[in-house]
Amino acid sequence: MSSILSQGRSVELDDVQGLVRFGYKHLTEASFLLLRVKDPAAARAWLAQAPITSAVNADPLPETALQVAFTSEGMGALGIDGDLCEGFSPEFVAGMASDPARKRRLGDVGANDPGGWRWGVGERVPHVAVLLYARSGRLAAWEQEIGAQCAAGLVPIERLSTSDTQRTEPFGFVDGISQPQVDWERKRPVRDQDELEYRNDSCLGEFLLGYPNEYGLYTPRPLLPPQLDPGGLLPRAEDAPDQADLGRNGCYLVMRQLRQDVQGFWRERDRQADGDADLRERLAAAMVGREKNGEPLAAPDGKSGADGAWKPGSELNAFTYQDDPRGVRCPLGAHIRRTNPRNADLPPGAPGILSRLCRMLGFNARALEQDLVASTRFHRLLRRGRAYGPGVVPAPAATGSSASPDTGLHFICLAANIKRQFEFVQSAWMMGSKFAGLTGESDPLLGHRLPDLADSPTDDFSIPQADGPDRRLSRLPQFVTVLGGAYFFLPGIRALRYLATAR
Ligand code: HEM
Repeated sequence: MSSILSQGRSVELDDVQGLVRFGYKHLTEASFLLLRVKDPAAARAWLAQAPITSAVNADPLPETALQVAFTSEGMGALGIDGDLCEGFSPEFVAGMASDPARKRRLGDVGANDPGGWRWGVGERVPHVAVLLYARSGRLAAWEQEIGAQCAAGLVPIERLSTSDTQRTEPFGFVDGISQPQVDWERKRPVRDQDELEYRNDSCLGEFLLGYPNEYGLYTPRPLLPPQLDPGGLLPRAEDAPDQADLGRNGCYLVMRQLRQDVQGFWRERDRQADGDADLRERLAAAMVGREKNGEPLAAPDGKSGADGAWKPGSELNAFTYQDDPRGVRCPLGAHIRRTNPRNADLPPGAPGILSRLCRMLGFNARALEQDLVASTRFHRLLRRGRAYGPGVVPAPAATGSSASPDTGLHFICLAANIKRQFEFVQSAWMMGSKFAGLTGESDPLLGHRLPDLADSPTDDFSIPQADGPDRRLSRLPQFVTVLGGAYFFLPGIRALRYLATAR
């Protein structure tokens, strides 16, 4: 068995689906098939031997890859005994579009309401997601081959195509730069709550079930008595060796189809900049938190990284916001600052027992504001999305009057805990109208712009200035609309075989 050795038990890479470890960037073509079960026995027969690509390093790199994930509804449709699935997280079991409170928290209201989704609701909740990746020119044949294999058991309800936009998302910004560095070696000691520096590495258990997470704990997952696994197919749980671990080497996969109004985004920037092309670019960059080429605004002169390590044109990710507390370089509400505030457990510049005590006792004037952005390490996401639709060149988009084509992002992220990771980032940080002490705004790219529960507006965006009051952009229109979404479980490969054969 291929594994990475570690201080603890090794990581069985041949049991992990490759997407967790690789983004498959060399496989520039991809399509995501959303399917429903029409014949459970035939579907299970295919799943029992489907050629899933594992996380083992391959030399040469693979020409194609296949990944498979299930919704909780899909597990039922496959005829998998409900008892086996007890222990999956409540969010996964309930589903993304399940209740009004979740919809509101995730910002799935107004134009984003699941009532208008293309898929993800009612009869259009997918049971199985088949993710196909291939080298340029090879996808069509790969899709035909896998489609033929699974056709007896599964029927497609949606085919999500993707486009090779050379790592640039449709608004025109380089994407996929910042990812947590996963501790595959299992070398990083579990830290206590006194972590004082932002670090980019994350415990394996933040992304894979069956391993310790950032709290030093094993995320709850289905553990089975050994008699339910008489063939010994499943790995044993590290934290409960007398139990078979159905979750180990698997994780949750969040998928959302996000349509981007590229024309609208650039036209609005042009209007705000009064036709000044340079200002138009600067306003757009302020909303993202990076220049189009990926350079972070927080480190424009190459010296504001936590350790001064960031240099223009080199590592684009070694920076924090520690030297920019007011958001003069990178606005507090910029997309990348909301989705990863890059701070540790204590407010910047205030390490030590005394300040920790003050904060715990509530004597810190900025405590509430800081708490809303604290402890980034518990809220990291592995992003694996792909753009779709024709790309739009920003300058013509800014001046053109035609409607945007159907273009956007098939957002995919992986996490061991849907609630603490995806839902928290989406609701508290992106949609949150109180994030970092801001008022009247939400994520400048993804906000739905409707008033919040307290009837306060969410459609502003403020850009702090070095001297003078903030520049405030008001009444932003909505640029991103949700067209579908679901929570999936991306099982370990042995767990997939087990589910395909268990009665
Ligand atoms: C159409 C929708 C979206 C667009 C156009 C978009 C665009 C971008 C861009 C341009 C970056 C900077 C490149 C990078 O650091 O990798 C970025 C970073 C990021 N985005 Fe998004 N994004 C979208 C949706 C989302 C959603 C739904 C989430 C999470 C719920 C999310 C979470 C993140 C995170 C965590 C980062 C990295 C932040 C950091 O570590 O500095 N994004 N996004």
